[in-house]
Amino acid sequence: MKILPYQPDQTNLAYSVGMTLDRFIKHKQSDFPFASGELSQLLRDIALAAKIVNRETNRAGLANIGGAFGQTNVQGEEQQKLDVIANIRFMRALSKGGEVCAIVSEEEDAVIDLQNASGKYVVAIDPLDGSSNIDVNISIGTIFSIYRRKTPAGSPITEEDVMQPGNQQVAAGYVLYGSSTMLVYTTGCGVNGFTYEASLGEFFLSHPEMNAPKDGNIFSINEGLELEWDSIVQAYIRSCKERKMQSRYIGSLVADFHRNLLKGGIYIYPSTQKNPNGKLRLLYEANALAFIIEQAGGKATDGSQRILDIQPTSLHQRTPLFIGSEVMVDEAVKAYSRATAIPAV
Ligand code: AHG
Ligand code: MN
Ligand code: MN
Repeated sequence: MKILPYQPDQTNLAYSVGMTLDRFIKHKQSDFPFASGELSQLLRDIALAAKIVNRETNRAGLANIGGAFGQTNVQGEEQQKLDVIANIRFMRALSKGGEVCAIVSEEEDAVIDLQNASGKYVVAIDPLDGSSNIDVNISIGTIFSIYRRKTPAGSPITEEDVMQPGNQQVAAGYVLYGSSTMLVYTTGCGVNGFTYEASLGEFFLSHPEMNAPKDGNIFSINEGLELEWDSIVQAYIRSCKERKMQSRYIGSLVADFHRNLLKGGIYIYPSTQKNPNGKLRLLYEANALAFIIEQAGGKATDGSQRILDIQPTSLHQRTPLFIGSEVMVDEAVKAYSRATAIPAV
């Protein structure tokens, strides 16, 4: 019997499909502070739910799952059917695995206790971000943050387990259901992006070690609300225009964030007359993206404080958000430190 060592093919006839998310997670498992494999499994559970939501999103127009659900969530926002479906999909995936003890979701009034006695992780999730864009076939997303619970597994969930500042996240990520579907995540050792290959049903590493450009040329803000911004944001955006920067705003935070992460820019959702604390939620929108942008070399602040250092006081609390390339975020922060903001009247 002849035995030969494997020689990787040199012909270029069959191109390499690259590294799957599963294999990448396995390779990186030793980077985690608590390398027990549970966080790896949790990330896989999220990836599976993302594939299912991707499928639902793709066929929304055919399957009568577009449009309003007919109810509002705890924040008084009209829920779309896909908001509710995505919430069910992620809840189900996270409850089955056994790694998670509690979930905070945009679509749930209270903390959901999964009653998994062994669950060590708390997940905060925006199951479907950018829901106003669902019915018009524009990019939407999912945002998630993962924390280790503070109290011992098996004991009742406490506020201390759930109300952790963003600097305690052990992992965070987002899924972008866009012109291609991507999953981008960090465990605190850099940021990596994976593109979904639908015919194989797998995410493949496509954007290794993502870095936010130090400076950028894009500002992303809902300019329709200009008269509601304070004087500093008004002046900052005017200065962007004087410098002939590009205005880009999709209205799906995940998509706006992703573009600016790749190209360089700043995303701002400031305080407005209507929403003095801005619109975006700290626990399941701002914190995850702040963790990712910092890991990619950028910054995230509420104008005066680092997002990741904000101590949450309520589940659905909002925060103003300035996030993106370091130089642009620093400029905005300096503008706040130099002047007193005159609120919109
Ligand atoms: P969600 O769909 O999860 O409620 O989030 C919507 C958010 C965010 O995705 C987006 O950036 C922002 O709302 C847009 O708000 P405006 O329409 O006020 O610009
Ligand atoms: Mn959202
Ligand atoms: Mn949402």
